[in-house]
Amino acid sequence: MTAQLIDGKLIAQQVRDDVAAEVARRVAIGKPKPGLATVLVGDRVDSATYVAAKQKACHELGMVSYHYPLPAEISQDELEKVIRALNADELVNGILVQLPLPSHLNEERVLQLISIEKDVDGFSPLNIGRLAQKGREPLFVPCTPYGCIYLLEQAGIKIEGANAVVLGRSNIVGMPAALLLIGKNATVTVCHSRTKDLPAVVRQADILIAAIGRPEMVRGDWIKPGAAVIDVGINGIPLLNSDGSPVLSEKTGKPRQKLVGDVNFAEAQAVAGYITPVPGGVGPMTIAMLMKNTLRAAQIQQD
Ligand code: GUN
Repeated sequence: MTAQLIDGKLIAQQVRDDVAAEVARRVAIGKPKPGLATVLVGDRVDSATYVAAKQKACHELGMVSYHYPLPAEISQDELEKVIRALNADELVNGILVQLPLPSHLNEERVLQLISIEKDVDGFSPLNIGRLAQKGREPLFVPCTPYGCIYLLEQAGIKIEGANAVVLGRSNIVGMPAALLLIGKNATVTVCHSRTKDLPAVVRQADILIAAIGRPEMVRGDWIKPGAAVIDVGINGIPLLNSDGSPVLSEKTGKPRQKLVGDVNFAEAQAVAGYITPVPGGVGPMTIAMLMKNTLRAAQIQQD
């Protein structure tokens, strides 16, 4: 069997096109452009890259981006002052504080402070609490898990009654993904570093969401034939020549890297029914769902 590819790039583009069309429709009837504030504390290169991509997406979809780069040594009080000001700012519909924060800052207190109507990342305790409770709806669902479920639904994969295995229990991906799957009536197992006989547990999965951050950890013989595999991992590993030596960049002379997921793609593709590639699978969905959430925030606040 060769698994069917789930094309995240294409599906994300469709989400973005729909959001852009609705933003344009609203603006044409006199509504303000949706505004997203991005808060970036410190100078982590990966975080700066993600935030730049979020700002770019705002511009491309007709929204306004307000960027707040803050020094790594900012105090908790100063950061909380910024969040309070953004809560009160009518031009700002969504607030995104890029994580992780420097270790001296209390992430929980910062996320708790974001007004629930502007919590487009869905990380505030109120949104996560609602996601965890039966019969309650969060205002916003965290973007990466939302993207994973959206990909499954677009590929026509039945979630209800499926055995779903989530590899990883992070606040950003694994835990909210598990809660979403439970809400859609899957039978969910959450695995982590202390799970016993991980391959045997993963082999039960009709749906696997891999979000553990270990390059190519999931092997082909862990996958149940026909399963749907959603690979959230984005890991850089050295690019090798056929003799096993590292490929060096012509420009910098440094070893080049390639991006791989948490799943060994070539092996899994031969067994699974559906699989997301890395890159071009879950990655583009995160920003697309953030844009969808930001539009929703504007609708909640302006309609
Ligand atoms: N860091 C890694 N992923 C995310 C995300 O989806 N949102 C925020 N705010 N920070 C992150």
